[in-house]
Amino acid sequence: MSTFADSRISTPSKSRRYGLFVCLMAALAGLLFGLDIGVISGALPFIAKHFVLGDRAQEWIVSSMMVGAAIGALGAGWLSWRLGRRYALVLAAILFIAGSLWSGFAPSPEHLIGARLLLGLAVGMASFTAPLYLSEVAPRHVRGAMISTYQLMITVGILAAFLSNIGLSYVADWRWMLGVIAIPAAFFLAGVLALPDSPRWLLQRNRADEARAVLQRLYANPDDAQAELEQVNDDNTRPQRGWSLLRKNSNFRRSVLLGVVLQIFQQLTGINVVMYYAPRIFELAGFATHEQQLWATVIVGLVNVLATFGAIAFVDRWGRKPILYAGCAVMAAGMCSLGFLLHAGVAGLTSQILAVASLLFFIAGFAMSAGPLVWILCSEIQPQQGRDFGIAVSTLVNWVANMAVAATFLSLLSTVGEANTFVLYAILNVVFAIFVFFFVPETRGVSLEKLGSDLMAGMRLRDLGKGK
Ligand code: BGC
Repeated sequence: MSTFADSRISTPSKSRRYGLFVCLMAALAGLLFGLDIGVISGALPFIAKHFVLGDRAQEWIVSSMMVGAAIGALGAGWLSWRLGRRYALVLAAILFIAGSLWSGFAPSPEHLIGARLLLGLAVGMASFTAPLYLSEVAPRHVRGAMISTYQLMITVGILAAFLSNIGLSYVADWRWMLGVIAIPAAFFLAGVLALPDSPRWLLQRNRADEARAVLQRLYANPDDAQAELEQVNDDNTRPQRGWSLLRKNSNFRRSVLLGVVLQIFQQLTGINVVMYYAPRIFELAGFATHEQQLWATVIVGLVNVLATFGAIAFVDRWGRKPILYAGCAVMAAGMCSLGFLLHAGVAGLTSQILAVASLLFFIAGFAMSAGPLVWILCSEIQPQQGRDFGIAVSTLVNWVANMAVAATFLSLLSTVGEANTFVLYAILNVVFAIFVFFFVPETRGVSLEKLGSDLMAGMRLRDLGKGK
């Protein structure tokens, strides 16, 4: 039974406040996602020392979360349909609390890997369900901004984790670093319990009265709420399909593949190498003390947050493709210059400053482009009749690719060498730009229905949205 089943008439300010509350609570999932990604880079050196771990075991502690996230993203597709988006988020919140406490109290590396796996389930479920929930609850005119806001919350979570790493490193207690995330997770749980169910999901379950009640709280004007209800009802007449559509329809296969490749490229930029191993990279760049490494990492987190605002401001003005080209060029330049600096040997203050500048350049390039834009594009390119499935598959691939990058970075460093590793990422960013040129459509200002109908009519991917 929905908490909001009774219909109450909203005033404009009441409905705005309510919309903001719903948005903030759901976006908290992004914050937890970011916290769990960010915290490990600061905690890892202490964990390695405590349990006397080699590279391989450290890679597993980092990447076990991604294994869980991949499973969680896939499971969330089914769960959020069976239980509803809201209860899928409630379950994710409970797993966040349990995983944080377990990792804080882990008596052995194996327990830690288990706890990170559980946290991964939560992160994967949240990364599928929260943007989907937001897009279903959000009034149409603010949908795009909401997806970027979710990415913004991820970056804020990462920054908060980097800051807490510093605070807690003074007491050198990794258990606190990991366990303390249970507190925001508890807030998230309280918040999502108070959220309404998604009106779209309620309608699919033939619970029209409850759907109307939710919409009436979100829209100040009852006519707008009614119009939205009818529109959602129309959309829902086309049933959602997954595997069967994929098997039968080659056009749908193309959009699913595009989403998959975009997510792979997002990870191959090397972003999470920086997120997970930043202190280690700063160590390579000559920052001797752990404290220096952590502060440099905070600056990375701050640039990540600030540059995301750039994407929010320009994505609907400049278009998706120009921003992606610019971002790829900046990322490639950053990685390349880091590679050359490491090759030449970072010694002295000037080259240290240059190394930090290169890394910041790279992060800014990612945050203004591939970070938010890949999530935006992945939600835009799927046709309505296969959207849940298409987004679930690309989210799953995001986590698998994330894991592959995290699990191979330290080994790459020791096999191909430090400098070559970064040059390799630079090359991958150039390949990303070429891929964008040939296969990515410009979706700015084009309705999702138009993109979907052009796709299903067999138009080339890069031309979607240009059809008559
Ligand atoms: C990516 C994550 C990454 C984060 C960094 C997201 O878009 O999917 O893998 O850690 O951005 O801000």
